[in-house]
Formats: sequence, structure tokens, C-alpha cells
Amino acid sequence: MRALADRDLARMYLARPLPRRWRHVQGVAHRADTIAGHLNPVDAELLVSAAWLHDIGYAPPLATTGFHPLDGAVAIRELGVGERLWGLVAHHSAAIHEAREFGVTTPLAEFRDEQGLVRDLLWYLDMTTDPDGRPVSFAARMADVRARYGSEHFVGRALGPSMGDRQAAVDRAIRWLTTTGYRLDHR
Ligand SMILES: [Fe+2]
Repeated sequence: MRALADRDLARMYLARPLPRRWRHVQGVAHRADTIAGHLNPVDAELLVSAAWLHDIGYAPPLATTGFHPLDGAVAIRELGVGERLWGLVAHHSAAIHEAREFGVTTPLAEFRDEQGLVRDLLWYLDMTTDPDGRPVSFAARMADVRARYGSEHFVGRALGPSMGDRQAAVDRAIRWLTTTGYRLDHR
């Protein structure tokens, strides 16, 4: 039930102002749906909710600091939904490394990085879904991020230091997915 509300919320904030970001989010969420059946019901719902909401902090009305994982987590916390969801959004896809470059490690530390399977799966899905919502390899996705942001932007500067954490999460996610018999939908 929650996932439906989360989808509507994401659509409301992203579809019109940020159509490409909305395509990415839909891709991540639809792929999360196909994986969710292999998780327990609590984790399944959480993964799908986080997939819909992970980039909501880009929405102009919510972008208070300009650091989207933090802005998204703060917005979700204000809605009063579960604490695991805030933490997943706050820390998705190696956000701590970008936070160091952006200068928001203190507010980000209010949120917990839960370091488990759901977190790894969210990172994996985000980092293997291209800006238009299509599945891509992790390497291709990282190359695209590097090209789009360049080496001056804080996202580009954080890529090198974050790569070990990113790769480790993707490797763990793929290992687990393989044990479920799930067929990877990207190269
Ligand atoms: Fe993001």
C-alpha cells in the first residue's frame, strides 16, 4: 500500500519539473518491483518505497540545501514515515562521499546507513539504471556520471573516493540476486 503512495508522491514532485529524473526513478522502481518478490514483505515494501523516493530531494520545492540525498531524507522524515526509509534515501549510492565534498556530513549523520541487503539492492538498482530508466552496467553508469558532472563538480570529485564502496555494494547485490535465480537485466 505504501509503495503506491510513494509512487504518487514521487510523480507529483518529479514528473513535471524533472521529466528525465522521473524516467530514471520509474526505471529504478520497476526493477525494484521485480526483485521485491525475493525479499520478506517488510524489506520488499521498503525497497520499492525507497526506489520511488530516492531522488525526490531533487524536486525544487524540497531542495533546501542542494544535496539531494539529504533534502530527500529530510522531506520524508517530515512526512512521518518509517525511519529505515529516511536512512536509505539519505545514504543511497555512496552519498556520504559526496556529502564530504559538498560539506554536509554533519546533517547527514542524523540519518543511519543501515548497511544491509535492502541498502545494497537500492544502490545496485540506482547505479545500474541509466538517466532514462534503462538497465545498464555499473561501469557504463559510472562513466555516464563522470561525463555528465566532470571533475570539478562535487559529484565528480567524489567518484574516485566512493568507487570502492559503490563496487562492493553492487557486487554483494549481484551475488545475492544470483542465489535467488534472478536473471540480471543488464550486461
Ligand atoms: Fe540519487
